[in-house]
Amino acid sequence: MRLSIAFLAFCAVPFLLIAQNSQQHERNKHLVTLEAAIKGKESLPAEEVFKNIDLFKGQQAGRVLRVMEFAFTPGLGVDCNFCHVEGKWESDDIGHKKTARAMWRMLPEVNKLVKNIAGEKAAVNCYTCHRGEETPALNPRGRRQ
Ligand code: HEC
Ligand code: HEC
Repeated sequence: MRLSIAFLAFCAVPFLLIAQNSQQHERNKHLVTLEAAIKGKESLPAEEVFKNIDLFKGQQAGRVLRVMEFAFTPGLGVDCNFCHVEGKWESDDIGHKKTARAMWRMLPEVNKLVKNIAGEKAAVNCYTCHRGEETPALNPRGRRQ
């Protein structure tokens, strides 16, 4: 029994390595380029490094890219071009970018209400409602019709 578990674990190794490898390759190429472009300036105020900063005024430039990578993109299950004209990151031409600003501004209010009801630890972010979808679901089967 012990041997077969060890054997199965051994067989899984190449697959784990492949999975890890492809994850590394999937890292968004725009983020890699942007990180290189702002290298050394990550701790400067975002508005000094980027061109059209409203939400993140006074916050570190590096944080802007982390919010894009870890909150906006996976939260809604979208790519950068859902909100941006790729390469023209400062542009507000795509309406979803405006909605994203408004949704971000809604969070402190929603969080205040939720904390009042369920305690300090309770929190809501983009993923809580969106769960990796552009449109939050209204029923357990997932997407809205
Ligand atoms: C759900 C919408 C959304 C998605 C998806 C998104 N962004 Fe953004 N992005 C925004 C918003 C909103 C701002 C403006 C932030 C502010 O007002 O401070 C912004 C700002 C930026 C800026 C600063 C531009 C400037 O010069 O002012 C960069 C760079 C950027 N995003 C890159 C990305 C990249 C790269 C991706 C994909 C990995 C991405 N964004 C995905 C909404 C989004
Ligand atoms: C309290 C729940 C909730 C939270 C939290 C939330 N959203 Fe939404 N969001 C919605 C609902 C509901 C819709 C409307 C879906 C529909 O019916 O089209 C929506 C739609 C959107 C849309 C697409 C519609 C449009 O007009 O562009 C974007 C973009 C969006 N949300 C971004 C965000 C971002 C970014 C965050 C985190 C900062 C966020 N949302 C957090 C509930 C939420």
